[in-house]
Amino acid sequence: MRKTLVAGNWKMNNGPAAAVKLAREVRDGLRAVDLRGQALICPPCVSLPAVREIVAGSPLLLGAQNCAAAASGAHTGEVAAGMLAEAGCSHVIIAHSERRQHQRETDAEFVAKIDAAHAAGLTAIFCFGELLGERRAGQAQTVVRTQLEGVLPHVKRLSPANTVLAYEPVWAIGTGETATPEVAQEMHAFARAALAELAGREAAAAMRLLYGGSVKASNAGDLFAQPDIDGGLVGGASLQAAEFIGIVRAARDARA
Ligand code: 13P
Repeated sequence: MRKTLVAGNWKMNNGPAAAVKLAREVRDGLRAVDLRGQALICPPCVSLPAVREIVAGSPLLLGAQNCAAAASGAHTGEVAAGMLAEAGCSHVIIAHSERRQHQRETDAEFVAKIDAAHAAGLTAIFCFGELLGERRAGQAQTVVRTQLEGVLPHVKRLSPANTVLAYEPVWAIGTGETATPEVAQEMHAFARAALAELAGREAAAAMRLLYGGSVKASNAGDLFAQPDIDGGLVGGASLQAAEFIGIVRAARDARA
């Protein structure tokens, strides 16, 4: 059975001082949870060293929100995957819709970043998902297929051990509007079938597929009860320790 993963994407919130406080609350709250899956927090880069001290020795994993495609050199403002690994990260989010929109990142960059993450020993969390207009126009599946097809077959060392997928319909991100469990499951089943074609049946069966978009403690149980939803990528609710812990509990209970 696939192990669940609940990842908190803190986005551009919590500098070192606030991050330490929140990470401590999450770590302490998780002590009472008999984790069967994984729990991960992704603070802003500048907060990673401080948060690393807090999560050390606990089951809480540390991740980053982006990495550079290059391994080192003249790339002002960028952070290499190897540096993130050195700073204690096990995971890195790639291709978040906010980066697709605001930084105009492309499929070629995603491939290079995922390869860089793998080369540094990090697990890549590759995000994809359609815009509201695309869903309304009946193009959700075509868009998702194109996003997966444009990246996954080109990754050098794609495997369920080093890659997690995250379906994040853009219309559900930060809007309070969650995909219903049925809609999310339908898209996850579609993505898994596409993955079977692109990466093989075995990889598709073993790779984890997270749902993201207004996940809360109150809706996580119904989402994670779906057969193809293996956890969540959580934005807003990951900024409140009690909410995030509630979501981790829901993931544990879904695969009990
Ligand atoms: P929200 O949970 O705030 O909708 O954000 C989802 C997200 O973008 C996680 O990466």
